[in-house]
Amino acid sequence: MKKNLFITLEGIEGAGKSTFIDFIEKFFVDEGRDVKKTREPGGTKIGEQVRDVLLKNENQKLTSDSELLLMFAARAQHISEVILPALSSGKVVLCDRFIDASYAYQGGGRGIEYSKINLLEKWVMPDLKPDLTLLFDLDVNIALERIKKRSDVDRFESEDLYFFEKVRESYLERAESEPVRFQIIDSALPLKNVEEQVRNVLKDIL
Ligand code: TMP
Repeated sequence: MKKNLFITLEGIEGAGKSTFIDFIEKFFVDEGRDVKKTREPGGTKIGEQVRDVLLKNENQKLTSDSELLLMFAARAQHISEVILPALSSGKVVLCDRFIDASYAYQGGGRGIEYSKINLLEKWVMPDLKPDLTLLFDLDVNIALERIKKRSDVDRFESEDLYFFEKVRESYLERAESEPVRFQIIDSALPLKNVEEQVRNVLKDIL
């Protein structure tokens, strides 16, 4: 059986990771691999219901702690129902956001101590770490311009420049502290150049 791979895509809103997940899926399918594409929060029937609670604009009263715990509730379900079974059967798992988003958004953005997030990480995923994390990085002003063009913005997308600056900073700090797992992709470049960067990274882990 071919080596299973767990790959996560991260970045602030507007950085384009959801566009590139299809490109990455095609890359692996062309290599003859079985791919499971999934996302967080969500990825399971239960997790998608939790996602609705987390993203709905009307839920402005949700506290930062509740937000963090709901992210991990959805993640616990996702790991046991989808991620571990797919990895055990030798698939390539592509996950649109994972644990690093909790550090960046709830830690960096909301200001929750990283040590609390780390406790939950150890509880919910003691033996699981992505093999590769692609961080789609983009200047926050450009990202916000892109978000503004969307017709519906969710509870996170309606946050301000300062929030996203914190999120981006936190992602970049994590990338710096784990330079082997993280690969930073410059999302400000034209589509073809971004695809080229992604392809070069993927070729290295085949
Ligand atoms: P998406 O827009 O990439 O689908 O993700 C939904 C939102 O959830 C996005 O704004 C980031 C946020 N999020 C967190 O705040 N913490 C997390 O742990 C995850 C997985 C996502």
